[in-house]
Amino acid sequence: MPYKSDLIQPAICPQLNQDGQLAHFLTIKDLPKQILLDILNQAEAFFDPKTGMVLDAPTLAGTTVANLFFEASTRTRSTFELAAKKLSANILNLNIQSSSVSKGESLLDTVYNLEAMHCGLFVVRHGTSGAAQFVAENVRTPVGVINAGDGRHAHPTQAMLDMYTIRKHRGADFSQFCVAIVGDVLHSRVARSQIHALRTLGAGEIRLIGPKTLLPSHPNSLGVEVFHDMKRGLAGVDIIIVLRLQLERMQGARLPTGDAFYDCYGLTQASLMHAKSNALIIHPGPINRGVEIQSEIADSPQAVILDQVTNGIAVRMAILNMVARTHQQASGANR
Ligand code: CP
Repeated sequence: MPYKSDLIQPAICPQLNQDGQLAHFLTIKDLPKQILLDILNQAEAFFDPKTGMVLDAPTLAGTTVANLFFEASTRTRSTFELAAKKLSANILNLNIQSSSVSKGESLLDTVYNLEAMHCGLFVVRHGTSGAAQFVAENVRTPVGVINAGDGRHAHPTQAMLDMYTIRKHRGADFSQFCVAIVGDVLHSRVARSQIHALRTLGAGEIRLIGPKTLLPSHPNSLGVEVFHDMKRGLAGVDIIIVLRLQLERMQGARLPTGDAFYDCYGLTQASLMHAKSNALIIHPGPINRGVEIQSEIADSPQAVILDQVTNGIAVRMAILNMVARTHQQASGANR
């Protein structure tokens, strides 16, 4: 392993500077509600209210954003690239497979070389929990690090675009919402970040629905209710978050067959009947049709899965902007 540990060491919110500004964006856990609201509000301002298009805002001209994706990605990597371009930043997409990582260069040595190229923001996706925080703790120049998904730990920008999507379609009063997260929560960094975000924004009720083998073993500490039955779990729910089976993070078989999972926990026309009739359906993607969600449901107007992707551009612009501004202000103050 190129870095110390697979375990997250609790720290005193290393992502906020002494003035409470966002210096890195690593996890939603312990972030103040106001920071989450600032992200949502800034993201909203990046939309043209007439056309619904994401606007250009050249606030990061001269800044270089390095996309460091050690795991596959379509949505996160592409929307970070678009977000950086819309902010007029330079974007450097390191192709990990053809980079010197393949010759044994460590994560930190890769980062130090990119720092020498004057990259100001690092967007890091890595298969090991804690990788983004590790980079943030070890950078040698005043750069910002944004977690684009680390192991099973966190995917905070995904959770923020999900919160944005919920707020856009259902309003800002999260206390009114009963939210169900369905499926493979155990292996989901998205679910962990969503739970923190929902709690911080004051969600009325958060439910996890799935088989015992795919739910966290200590759900009470997360402030959620657990259901193993779709009918009971979806009853009266306002928002349904569907997760895919994260087979790449499963060690050993945890399910009899994929068909059995779909029969019990797939979101289908039949299971959806138990939720509120206008329940909003979101999914972080990639979706697996016929595995965790019926194809017709994924394409129905109730599902806003592709709107989530569009919202991800503006939300990532807001996060890039806020983190960059923190460092710009710090370097201005040090002049
Ligand atoms: N939701 C998500 O992280 O998708 P990608 O893996 O395509 O980035």
